[in-house]
Amino acid sequence: MEQKIITISYESFSGIDMLSDVDRQLCLKAEEALNTSYAPYSHFRVGTAIQLKGDQIVLGSNQENVAYPSGLCAERVALFAIGAANPSAVIERMAITAKADHFQVEQPVTSCGACLQVMAEFEKKQQQEIEVLFYCIGGEIMKVRGIRSLLPFVFVESRLEG
Ligand code: THU
Repeated sequence: MEQKIITISYESFSGIDMLSDVDRQLCLKAEEALNTSYAPYSHFRVGTAIQLKGDQIVLGSNQENVAYPSGLCAERVALFAIGAANPSAVIERMAITAKADHFQVEQPVTSCGACLQVMAEFEKKQQQEIEVLFYCIGGEIMKVRGIRSLLPFVFVESRLEG
């Protein structure tokens, strides 16, 4: 038996004022996207803003359904909208934030595994890493460069391609 260790890294910022202009603007756009969240079941709103090469920004928010699994996370709402509207788009960075109706969100909300797998697919398709900002409103911001740092054991199988 051999014990193996994987190291991942991220940057931590104590507040939105510590970010570059580009990152701060994207976080504020993610906050704006909270307005379109449809979350009557969880009362947990998630917003994302995705910046494409060429500076276009696409917003997304979680969309729930009374048949619970039919709903979709904010990240995949925006990512699939980009894939459907512009298959050759290149994603440079994305910001994600959340707000709960019944409690205070005190830490950055990190994306679920399914959303990370979808982000990884975009990275593979565009052959360029995506920067991800997890923005806690009034709190910490985590910045990750590349989905591998979030999902080190991402599913890959090259024989399923082509
Ligand atoms: N949610 C997201 O939008 N993104 C994630 O990465 C995790 C969870 C949403 C799904 C559901 O509408 C609500 O948050 C509570 O799970």
